[in-house]
Amino acid sequence: MNSAALSYVTIPREPALLGRPGIELLRSLSRVALQDAIARVGAPAFEISSTPLGAPEAPVGWHVSKTHTEGFAAAAISRAPIGIDAECIHRPRLRAAKECASREELALLGAANDANASTVVLLWTGKEAVLKKLGLGLTGISRCRLVASSGAGQLLFDFDGTRHEVVSQRIGEYWLSSCSLEDVLPIRVKLEESPA
Ligand SMILES: CC(C)(COP(=O)(O)OP(=O)(O)OC[C@H]1O[C@@H](n2cnc3c(N)ncnc32)[C@H](O)[C@@H]1OP(=O)(O)O)[C@@H](O)C(=O)NCCC(=O)NCCS
Repeated sequence: MNSAALSYVTIPREPALLGRPGIELLRSLSRVALQDAIARVGAPAFEISSTPLGAPEAPVGWHVSKTHTEGFAAAAISRAPIGIDAECIHRPRLRAAKECASREELALLGAANDANASTVVLLWTGKEAVLKKLGLGLTGISRCRLVASSGAGQLLFDFDGTRHEVVSQRIGEYWLSSCSLEDVLPIRVKLEESPA
């Protein structure tokens, strides 16, 4: 039995699923992904609660992280602290991500100042994965800096003098980044077909 699991769900990115109803659907799908991940590590079933900063809380001895963005929802559970983040490379909030990307960081990713959207989103999801592992939100983003990249989706970040490894994988038009001490392979959850 693994001590960490990461599950994800994809759905069509339809205009009808934008806005509040879409967010609620994606939240529920991230819970579906979490149930799948929980089953795969053999953890006991539990109701998720949140810290005052919004970080999801699991029973003692377990850590969880969730992410959802248009068309994609994922969740991970691990014995060690874990943070995951996913974004579409055609992300509407690309401007904010670009503002957080320094010239040095883009150079480490082999990109110039006018880096393409995919590179900027890769960097952003890596930072968010670190910040989620630490239980912080975006407030910590300026203290999180890319310091090395293997070029194969393995990123190394510095946060206040401590190093954090992130593994990023491209899944269709999404980057999914995870920050954990464990190797976690994302597994797709197949949703049951709705009855006709
Ligand atoms: C955590 C945060 C980085 C998530 O960013 P995002 O890309 O918009 O959203 P994602 O779908 O990837 O992640 C959402 C999940 O992150 C988790 N999360 C929220 N705050 C978290 C924190 N402090 N630490 C770890 N995980 C957190 C929750 O599980 C949340 O799922 P839920 O909305 O179903 O409860 C961001 O929401 C944030 O910084 N929140 C803190 C509060 C804050 O700064 N608010 C200002 C925004 S106006």
